[in-house]
Amino acid sequence: MFQILTMLLLETQLCVVSALFTVEVPQQLYVVEYGSNVTMECRFPVNGSLDLRLLTVVWEQKRQGQSKSKEVYTLRNGKAFPPSQHHDYIGRAALLHSELKWGRAILQITSVKITDAGSYLCLIYYQGVDYKYITLEVKASYKRINTQVMRKPGEDKFIFMCQSEGFPLAEVFWKNEKNFSLSGSANTTYTLMTDGLYNVTSILVFKPNMSENYSCIFWNKELNAETSAHISTLALMGTQYSGQKSLILFIIPMCVMVAVVPSALIILQKRKSFKNRQPKKDRKRKLNPNMKDENRDDFNSQTEDLYLSTVTTSKDIGSVGL
Ligand SMILES: *[C@@H]1O[C@H](CO)[C@@H](O)[C@H](O)[C@H]1NC(C)=O
Ligand SMILES: *[C@@H]1O[C@H](CO)[C@@H](O)[C@H](O)[C@H]1NC(C)=O
Ligand SMILES: *[C@@H]1O[C@H](CO)[C@@H](O)[C@H](O)[C@H]1NC(C)=O
Ligand SMILES: *[C@@H]1O[C@H](CO)[C@@H](O)[C@H](O)[C@H]1NC(C)=O
Ligand SMILES: *[C@@H]1O[C@H](CO)[C@@H](O)[C@H](O)[C@H]1NC(C)=O
Ligand SMILES: *[C@@H]1O[C@H](CO)[C@@H](O)[C@H](O)[C@H]1NC(C)=O
Ligand SMILES: *[C@@H]1O[C@H](CO)[C@@H](O)[C@H](O)[C@H]1NC(C)=O
Repeated sequence: MFQILTMLLLETQLCVVSALFTVEVPQQLYVVEYGSNVTMECRFPVNGSLDLRLLTVVWEQKRQGQSKSKEVYTLRNGKAFPPSQHHDYIGRAALLHSELKWGRAILQITSVKITDAGSYLCLIYYQGVDYKYITLEVKASYKRINTQVMRKPGEDKFIFMCQSEGFPLAEVFWKNEKNFSLSGSANTTYTLMTDGLYNVTSILVFKPNMSENYSCIFWNKELNAETSAHISTLALMGTQYSGQKSLILFIIPMCVMVAVVPSALIILQKRKSFKNRQPKKDRKRKLNPNMKDENRDDFNSQTEDLYLSTVTTSKDIGSVGL
């Protein structure tokens, strides 16, 4: 009997407290792509029409492992209060004022950076005070993979290179068409860039099988997502067997012939018409098309480097890991 009474009392007390003023979040976690825009929402009770002069909204951000928080946006008594805004958010953070009358304090951050990730506090004063936390995660998939193939000078080996930028740090795997791993002989290095992204470069030196295509896979462990680029051996054929060069060597003699034949015809006609006046004097002069051989040498010394266009496919293996 006594217990039931205390429980009832407690419940009524809680109801009274929560009826006073509560901030709520419709979504606790936001995961966004680097460079995109995000809007995070806190809700507060508005009874009838909103009196802006009584409203204060503070958004603060705290990164994981850091003790100090940054002020993202402050609305004080209905007016924006920029002096206290952290410089990281100047020009990038805004409160959607039109939504306030519905009791929605929506923070918008444009071109999200890696350093924007963390815990966001929204604190609202409006005939009462309350706050909630929202988590923002920022990911950057290794969308664009640059590939390059070079012939190792003086050897029959090739240097395969894949490079891309993203976050968090990805592992790189190499495989052939039969999914046989080639990662063992690959060297993967990375640097942390100023924008917080990782610049990952993987280099594989080996003797390829000319009838196989190869791929490099960037695996983003934390996001459980992967992107890959394919390197076609057709391109290697060009490097090794000079497929493109033979085409050039065919075109050049054609050009020379096109130039030589009409001039030879003209000379022949001139000779016919002046046959009687100039007998036998110029007969032995010949056109010398030796420039052809010089050109061939020029094309042989062409660089052996081959830059391939980027072919990227991506897939999310599963749901985003938290
Ligand atoms: C992000 O917001 C800005 C400003 O509102 C806008 O110009 C831009 O197009 C938006 N970008 C995306 C990816 O929606
Ligand atoms: C809401 O507003 C009405 C009239 O404006 C008032 O009677 C009522 O007490 C208010 N309720 C709360 C919870 O403030
Ligand atoms: C290689 O693996 C991919 C998926 O990981 C699969 O789609 C493909 O069929 C596999 N190929 C071979 C030859 O096993
Ligand atoms: C990998 O590459 C880096 C930089 O290019 C080099 O310093 C390192 O020695 C290489 N590691 C191996 C195992 O080849
Ligand atoms: C990434 O690193 C590679 C070499 O490690 C470098 O050539 C490239 O310029 C870097 N990319 C960026 C965007 O810094
Ligand atoms: C090269 O690849 C082809 C096709 O996958 C295969 O039949 C052949 O055995 C491979 N050769 C070598 C030397 O691995
Ligand atoms: C390699 O890729 C190219 C183009 O992507 C394709 O035309 C060719 O058939 C592929 N070669 C093999 C052996 O699968």
